[in-house]
Amino acid sequence: MKILVTGGAGFIGSNFIRYVLENRPDWEVVNFDALTYAGNLANLADVADSENYRFVKGDISNPDDVRGVFGEKFDYVANFAAESHVDRSLYEPNLFLKTNVLGTQLLLNQALESGVKRFLHVSTDEVYGSLGPEGYFSEISPLEPNSPYSASKASADLVCRSYHMTFDMPVVITRAGNNYGPYQFPEKLIPFFITRALNNESLPLYGDGLNVRDWLYVEDHCHGILTVFEKGKDGETYNIGGASEMTNLEITRMILSILGKPQSLIKFVKDRPGHDRRYALDYTKVKKTLGWQPKMKFSEGLKKTIDWYCNNQKWWKDILSGQYRQFYELHYKERK
Ligand code: NAD
Ligand code: DAU
Repeated sequence: MKILVTGGAGFIGSNFIRYVLENRPDWEVVNFDALTYAGNLANLADVADSENYRFVKGDISNPDDVRGVFGEKFDYVANFAAESHVDRSLYEPNLFLKTNVLGTQLLLNQALESGVKRFLHVSTDEVYGSLGPEGYFSEISPLEPNSPYSASKASADLVCRSYHMTFDMPVVITRAGNNYGPYQFPEKLIPFFITRALNNESLPLYGDGLNVRDWLYVEDHCHGILTVFEKGKDGETYNIGGASEMTNLEITRMILSILGKPQSLIKFVKDRPGHDRRYALDYTKVKKTLGWQPKMKFSEGLKKTIDWYCNNQKWWKDILSGQYRQFYELHYKERK
């Protein structure tokens, strides 16, 4: 089996590549990534020399790059490549539409032409919008995205659906909750707060800190994606839930207590515009039809994640000293 993984130098993509190399050692993996600010080949340093792994630099929204990589034939395509940070989508919505929608469409087109056996599009629970205190999103919940990021992901999902309905293309979509674990770029809540707490810096919680997310350990997500690749049905969408609903405040308190840092580091700041209140996924479909469910308990996964950031300080310090700082300074000036 030969698989093209787009966005494989990012957080989930790199974890997925490592997971595949470990669990399907006879597969050949090609990682196609533009290496934006979020792409980092250091995420794969330990597997870079594997015989069945290769990196190709390229942009999914550039027709020449996409045509170029499909110069070889793939059985599977896993599309992780995206602009993924909601806060950044407030400043650069056009980039989100270009990469996430047009990039996905270019890939679909080329994959269709080359006759892939399965195209898996990695999507998110954010396409469903925001929940009140009760209930869950199922795969038939309406798409009601509220940020330019989630609108671009919902649009890409619909383009994927259309390629299945119109061209009979073997497309499947997965929609996951908030991932956490090793190699997550330190601008997302958990690694951002771990690294700031380690530096004794304040932790800026948006609004009242009571927004709820459904947390999924990244390895569970990788297992879910591989399960859908191998057992999923063409044209279907599968929710990959974490069964771990937590408020941001609860998580922040846990991080500080595990690190032995004072709760006084918490600083409530201006809310994110369009901030979704709660996400929670009903994943009965993937559990009943494909036998997948999350394994990691949140308290254990958070401890493992914190250990990883404590033991890999060079990895995140290199990132924090780079161009990332510019975004951070602009964004948090506005949140004060
Ligand atoms: P990330 O930001 O860590 O990584 C994105 C990767 O895509 C980077 O390596 C980047 O260089 C690459 N990329 C960006 N634009 C590209 C382009 N035009 N061409 C080629 N490569 C490009 O993101 P992540 O958190 O690993 O998310 C991966 C996917 O999973 C995304 O599609 C995201 O929407 C989805 N998702 C993420 C989460 C989460 O909690 N992180 C949850 C559900 C779904
Ligand atoms: O739900 C899946 C989505 O999860 C993915 O599709 C996105 O790619 C991923 O980035 C993530 O989106 P969120 O917006 O939920 O993640 P983020 O880590 O940015 O924020 C998590 C929560 O924490 C959210 O309610 C906003 C809050 N937050 C975040 C940051 C960075 C803060 O209160 N302060 C912060 O500084």
